[in-house]
Amino acid sequence: MKNLNLSQDKNIRVGIDVGSDKIVCAIGEVIPQSKEVKLLGIGLAKSTGIKHGSIIHRDKVIEEIEKAIAEAETMADTKVNRAILSISGDHIRGINTQGAIAIQKNRHSTLPVEQDIRKEDVQKVLELAKAISFPVDRDILHVLPQEYVIDTMTGIKNPVGMSGRRLEARVHLVTVATSAASNLTSCAEELGIVVDGLVFQGLASSLSALDKDEKELGVALVDIGGGTTEITVYHEEGIRHTGVIPIGASSITNDIAVMLQIGTEDAEKIKLKYASAKASMASPELDFELPVKNGGISRQVSEHELSRYVEARMVEILQLVAREISRADIREKLTYGIVLTGGGAQLKNLTGLAEEVLKMRVRIGKPKGISGVVEVANSPLYAAALGLLQWSLHQEEMSIMVRSEFSARTLVTRIATWFKDFF
Ligand SMILES: Nc1ncnc2c1ncn2[C@@H]1O[C@H](COP(=O)(O)OP(=O)(O)OP(=O)(O)O)[C@@H](O)[C@H]1O
Ligand SMILES: [Mg+2]
Repeated sequence: MKNLNLSQDKNIRVGIDVGSDKIVCAIGEVIPQSKEVKLLGIGLAKSTGIKHGSIIHRDKVIEEIEKAIAEAETMADTKVNRAILSISGDHIRGINTQGAIAIQKNRHSTLPVEQDIRKEDVQKVLELAKAISFPVDRDILHVLPQEYVIDTMTGIKNPVGMSGRRLEARVHLVTVATSAASNLTSCAEELGIVVDGLVFQGLASSLSALDKDEKELGVALVDIGGGTTEITVYHEEGIRHTGVIPIGASSITNDIAVMLQIGTEDAEKIKLKYASAKASMASPELDFELPVKNGGISRQVSEHELSRYVEARMVEILQLVAREISRADIREKLTYGIVLTGGGAQLKNLTGLAEEVLKMRVRIGKPKGISGVVEVANSPLYAAALGLLQWSLHQEEMSIMVRSEFSARTLVTRIATWFKDFF
């Protein structure tokens, strides 16, 4: 097995999507010319140590990350020693802020001329935009510029080289609970993995599942996982809102288990096989047998009855999604509506139900911009893992716009050296 070393192969990326239901490790190679990622290997492990995005059993998380990595390493024939991880949970908060600076006059000139905006000015204004007070137990995960304003000109995406007297940055900040971020990081470090950064799971999914037009004209990426649902709202190519709802598709499994009085493993199998998000599209005449335990009597339930429970829970999740989207500070409608990813997006007839509840167009999102062994990952389940591989491409595309800002003391220096390695 080749020993992966970023200084030897700067184009290799490793993303570990740490979910409540599964952990996926993806290894890819960035093709700089085509801005594509070639998938080299992928590994998956069932996740049992995370609930609603938070670690509840550290040893299990470590074991399961190790399993996912080992599987991906075998497939890619490469040894992993550094990675980017996804993070989720309802401790994640998104907020919009802004900062402004006066553009420094050339020290050698006394003329009142406008000055060219330099990269350092942009960095300075971003520093100011994120300088708002947070509780001590929170850290900034991402500083995502929405637009820059030079004097009275709005909607500028990259102000470097332009001239003006006042530069303002409008940004979306994503913050995390410091302990959640450092606990997750330490699980990977325990395995000898250097963590190059953490990325919000909903942002990672949006990088692989959305296209430019959608981000420009308005779209909400909704990733329905096992224990969490992440929402990322884009408009005019900037992120306007991020949010996490601490329920996902495993709540449907629990409802089925309770209503039909069966175990959760059986309920999960029944959900995958017979459930429909719209009860009206499931036949009352089609029955299936419930598992019989300890010589009990056999029982039959119709797909329609099962789907009534499923629909009720899904409507609740979608209503919470609608509430999150309404928090995004945008006046226009989202032209491209909703893109659904995550395992929950695979529920039968979900598109129809989501269109009814959210009154917007809805499509299922699969990872895009990927070549290589794509057939193994061509599913909304893998949107976040493959988005992690695309993370660095988007950083370059947006130049100074996006930068992982997780400031847990140990990570800062690592990220800095990692960036130095790159550019
Ligand atoms: N075909 C399907 N039909 C219905 N539900 C499905 C299907 N496939 C997967 N799911 C559900 O999707 C959920 C898992 O989704 P996913 O793998 O995206 O979660 P995760 O990323 O591990 O969790 P989270 O994002 O909450 O941390 C499970 O509840 C599973 O039952
Ligand atoms: Mg997920």
